[in-house]
Amino acid sequence: MSQALSEARKYEEEAESTVDGAERPGVHFSPRIGWLNDPNGFSFYNGEYHLFYQYHPYSTYWGPMHWGHAVSKDLLQWRHLPVAIAPDSDYDRAGCFSGSALTLPDGRHLLLYTGVRKEETAHGTKDIQTQCVAIGDGIDYEKYAGNPVAEEGSLPEGASRYDFRDPKIWRKADGSYCFVAGNATADGDGQVLLYRSEDAMQWELVKVLVANHMRFGMMWECPDFFVLDGKGVLLASPTEMIAGEEYHSGNGTLCLIGSYDEETDTFEEESDQAIDYGIDFYAPQTLLAPDGRRIMIGWMQNWDTCNVRQTPLPWFGQMSIPRELSIQNGRLYQRPVRELAALHGAEVKYENVVFSGEKKLDGIEGRKVDIELSLRPGSGQELYRKFVLRVAQDDVHHTDIHFMPYDSVVEVDREASGSRRAILHRRSAHVRSERGSVKLRVILDSFSVEIFVNDGEHVLSLTIYTDMSADGISFYADGLAAMDIVKHDIQM
Ligand code: FRU
Repeated sequence: MSQALSEARKYEEEAESTVDGAERPGVHFSPRIGWLNDPNGFSFYNGEYHLFYQYHPYSTYWGPMHWGHAVSKDLLQWRHLPVAIAPDSDYDRAGCFSGSALTLPDGRHLLLYTGVRKEETAHGTKDIQTQCVAIGDGIDYEKYAGNPVAEEGSLPEGASRYDFRDPKIWRKADGSYCFVAGNATADGDGQVLLYRSEDAMQWELVKVLVANHMRFGMMWECPDFFVLDGKGVLLASPTEMIAGEEYHSGNGTLCLIGSYDEETDTFEEESDQAIDYGIDFYAPQTLLAPDGRRIMIGWMQNWDTCNVRQTPLPWFGQMSIPRELSIQNGRLYQRPVRELAALHGAEVKYENVVFSGEKKLDGIEGRKVDIELSLRPGSGQELYRKFVLRVAQDDVHHTDIHFMPYDSVVEVDREASGSRRAILHRRSAHVRSERGSVKLRVILDSFSVEIFVNDGEHVLSLTIYTDMSADGISFYADGLAAMDIVKHDIQM
């Protein structure tokens, strides 16, 4: 084991004791210590789910990337394992960037990741990115002697070797392997490259699977590609997006849905949409569960605001709740994994609560809760003008979820959620609603809120910093609204 890896393992084991368990989210994964960004190597191996992550154990800020590691039986309760790989080789000394994992036919676990190294050029020091392999048993991983397995020489003409990263691997029915990776053209425009291999070690470029043509941001990070409900689905996280109807500016998320011909590896786009409409969601990755579910997990943060935060905690960054994906009516739907039902504690339920103005309901409170709410007008005649669900509330703080029936808009507002910074605190999505009816499922888990609208047709995710003692929940309607509500505590 390299010195960098053994030092990191020793450090995280000692430093972990400074983390107060009560200050961690319940079902949302957080790093063992230090900094976390993208999910990596999300896979099912030897009877357990494995989650690796972009990890800088030594501080709560981004630094030379390691792969942190954890396992779970239910995707919600995770057990930290020792850091899996460290930046300890010539080809990855500047970082082990994002990548993916799969089980080899002989039972070993393969990690495919981006190795970053520095190179002196006429224009200063540049990062060179190549794809590399590490193989292990679910705890210890050894880097492949033949690394890197895909580099500059294999790139299409004009493609950048500085932006070539985040391979997502899968195995085809014929036994061969594929990966997609993010890449930039000479003018910085994003494209997704498709590679293939017979043995997962010797790789060759097949083609540019999808090109951005300057439509959605610039470089596309962390692509994922799979077939779901008969459709080809490409997920990517574009950088430098410009806001429009569907997308917000900055680092965003993109889902392209189309047809995929596996014989010719041809993907034809039919539609595009954002994956998450909230403030904090990026770089999602999926796995195929043994029962056939396509499950996605994402980094519940964003690059533009992750460094303007105040936190006394010795860890930073968390994952979204894992979400079951489906394609319905040409759209990507996301629902929290069904395993969450097994962690449901006491239930509080109200039917047909008709109200106007402020409303509180006995037993509806808490900071680790799963709320299902179905909303409609309180009188047959007239539409209410606005509905607000207010969570993480005390005298000063609150995080608000608004629904405006006339515009059919859901908006999240974390202005009063403990941040001392003038960063983005509000975001909204146009949703489908008829005559003021909408369904909201809200997962509140200590420092985050995820809102699944209309059974997962739209999702908005955000983090909050409010002190844990702010656990009030209340409602407000401008006009007469009616709702059914079921609340479960989330119990670990
Ligand atoms: C996405 C990303 C990836 C890269 C990693 C580095 O958030 O920028 O493209 O591999 O983070 O930590």
